[in-house]
Amino acid sequence: MHIIKTSDTLKKHLIALRKEQPKVTIGFVPTMGALHQGHLSLIDASVSENDITVCSIFVNPTQFGDAADLEKYPKPIEQDIEKLVKNDCSILFLPSYDDVYPSDYKQMIFAIGELEHKIEGASRPGHFQGVCNVLHQLFSLISPTAAYFGQKDFQQTVVVKKLVEITDSSVKIRVVPIKREPHGLAMSSRNVRLSAKGRQNAAFIHRALSQTKEDLASMTVAKAVAKAKQFINAQKGAAIDYLLAVDAKTLEEISSLDEAENITLLTVVEYENVRLLDNIILK
Ligand code: PAJ
Repeated sequence: MHIIKTSDTLKKHLIALRKEQPKVTIGFVPTMGALHQGHLSLIDASVSENDITVCSIFVNPTQFGDAADLEKYPKPIEQDIEKLVKNDCSILFLPSYDDVYPSDYKQMIFAIGELEHKIEGASRPGHFQGVCNVLHQLFSLISPTAAYFGQKDFQQTVVVKKLVEITDSSVKIRVVPIKREPHGLAMSSRNVRLSAKGRQNAAFIHRALSQTKEDLASMTVAKAVAKAKQFINAQKGAAIDYLLAVDAKTLEEISSLDEAENITLLTVVEYENVRLLDNIILK
């Protein structure tokens, strides 16, 4: 695996590669590091579908509202490198802040409409514009054939598809299913902040979502969602931030399954002071 630390070197490397193999396909997996099996499932998808896989590790300050949050973001770079080598990643891009955002860079405002203010955006002002800025920089530098994102951050996948549409980018966006711990909790770098018992118990979130999907065969959306909320609220120490069924394209809340072609049930549950995101595709 090549480890490349500057945009210039990466640019030159990719130009040479494309000259040598004009039809080369390049899969791109953007991350902020502290890699777990969820991230590695994106690497696996890219490796299986492309000639070359580029993974970036960059903790992007423009998407963090809270400086303290940014400061304490884990950076286990040696372990990350080992995992990427094991999973056949071809290039690790490890840029510095100045490399991604040169001194003359002006943060752009992307016309992603209401997507940026809804749901996760409501509690994280500016977050999705930050995500768009960094991805726009990285896509422009790498020009990947396809880029890989986890369904785990569902709203991010919708925002990224919108970004690609409004910037007329040719990169194909691939969404990879949520990788879960054996008992069902969605994998996340935040899970290490749960107690051992909490980590086992937190599987109730996935159980609630799966049950809701089943219940919808015989119940209205409102009834099934109310039942799931009751179940989650009955778990000691759990507090629902949101639980709602949305149109998978617009993220508008829906109240009946025939209101949209594709529908996803999204939730965030606060448990042991950790915000746990999860979702399930209803149709
Ligand atoms: P990060 O949180 O490091 O996540 C990188 C990618 O891994 C995202 O696409 C995320 O959805 C995916 N991922 C996380 N947990 C997963 C799981 N359990 N199963 C499958 N995929 C999972 O998301 C970001 O970084 C940043 O916003 C980024 C896109 C890199 C822009 O800075």
